[in-house]
Amino acid sequence: MNRRQFLKFNILTGVSASIAYAANSHNMHNMHSMNLTNSSNIDTSFIKLSKNVNLIDEKKFPAHQNLNALKLLKNESKEKNFFRATIEIKESQLEIIKGFKTKFYTYNDLIPGPKIEVYEGDTIEILVKNKLKEPTTIHWHGLPVPPDQDGNPHDPILAGRERIYRFTLPQNCAGTYWYHPHPHYITAKQVFMGLAGVFVVKAKKDALSHLEEKDLVISDLRLDDKAQIPENNLNDWLNGREGEIVLINGQLKPKITINAERIRIYNFCSARYLNLKIQNAKFILVGTDGGLIEKPIEQEELFLSPASRVEVLIKADKLGEFKLESLYYDRDKMLIKEEPKNLFLADIKIEKNPNNIPSTLKKFKKQEEPKNFKEVIMSEDHMQMHGIDKKSEDEIKKSLASMFLLNGKVFDMKRIDLKSKLNEVEDWVIINKSHMDHPFHIHGTQFELISSKLNGKTAKANFRALRDTINVRPNEELRLRMVQNYEGIRMYHCHILEHEDLGMMGILEIQK
Ligand code: C2O
Ligand code: CU
Ligand code: CU
Repeated sequence: MNRRQFLKFNILTGVSASIAYAANSHNMHNMHSMNLTNSSNIDTSFIKLSKNVNLIDEKKFPAHQNLNALKLLKNESKEKNFFRATIEIKESQLEIIKGFKTKFYTYNDLIPGPKIEVYEGDTIEILVKNKLKEPTTIHWHGLPVPPDQDGNPHDPILAGRERIYRFTLPQNCAGTYWYHPHPHYITAKQVFMGLAGVFVVKAKKDALSHLEEKDLVISDLRLDDKAQIPENNLNDWLNGREGEIVLINGQLKPKITINAERIRIYNFCSARYLNLKIQNAKFILVGTDGGLIEKPIEQEELFLSPASRVEVLIKADKLGEFKLESLYYDRDKMLIKEEPKNLFLADIKIEKNPNNIPSTLKKFKKQEEPKNFKEVIMSEDHMQMHGIDKKSEDEIKKSLASMFLLNGKVFDMKRIDLKSKLNEVEDWVIINKSHMDHPFHIHGTQFELISSKLNGKTAKANFRALRDTINVRPNEELRLRMVQNYEGIRMYHCHILEHEDLGMMGILEIQK
């Protein structure tokens, strides 16, 4: 039994797990956090725990239809380089399943939300009307926008209120972004209720701007037998929620025709890891979150942890019909034992292969050396797992709200955790000292992976790429290089949204 199995085994049985974990981890932060458990003032009012939900029969969900393109958010401005639009956030009753009205939260009545498509250098002005009965924000995931326009949990749009988000995009930020809510404590809920949309920033001209484009937004959804979206259960809070119905552009198992397009793929799931594969075809990776990479890279599989995006071309060994699947990925979930099963996502017809793909996609500037360093340790306090199934509901909630840690602490809205200097290049070392995978995300900038270290082996990144979210495996250590170009506060967190709400998040302050 290796250590990972050992820990998993013990977590299920109780006491010895926490002792084994604490003793093995050499992580003093873990020890500290034990004291937190006693404090009765942990806010757990946001944690809803549903039990025994009967799920809908997936066969009732319409499937196997031709893939629809995403609806565009309408630009109301006639001015050049100016994008003005309105987004209404509300509860919508949508009849997806015959005879049932499902209550979603929507952006302009759409699932997924409308696609925002703009150009580098554009000024964006979006009026947001919050018609929900609760606060929300819109966070522009990955975009270089000023902190006060970035939908931080500190700047809620209260129920029934409106606000305007306004920012000008710098040059050289073309990439594949998205937007979603980021209110304190209820981000996961608002996303699983349906709030998320894509945000594409295009360059007037780049190495692939001659190609047609296609978006594939992968999201998941849970529906009970009345076609309603249930609250999270204990497993969802522990491992992140994976809705059973996995959709592409809101459709189940669609038919997708590929014609040598530039394809942007998004993982909008709260916690589902995707490892895409098309038997007898290949992905040619051409871009990551923050735009084109140096040169195209052929891959058999495409790994997308939650919140990650890529740009790819798809090439068949022989033109024809294929199946798009997501291969099973073991991320060592707590309390449940999974069958390693692949997931069928879509039928794909490849009508044309890409040709003349440029060998250089983008020239990267020489990498600057870091002037400063930061360390972020991801950990879980497994004391909290001890006998969790025997605890009262209140105690379970307290445990949940104190077990997911960054640098030994649970998120606090009023605490600055780290400070950086404006425009100063830094290396961040992200260390996962827990048994399960956690995707690390930071707001306001794109970073480059420099190297990763696992089991004593260090590997240099094998190509240069810009990302804002990256998976960190158990015991893995990643070195990320980044710079923040705006003053103010930024969040960094695990992008399993339940972990983020439970406090696996910190605040970075950027000062002159
Ligand atoms: Cu996708 Cu803090 O965000
Ligand atoms: Cu973000
Ligand atoms: Cu996490």
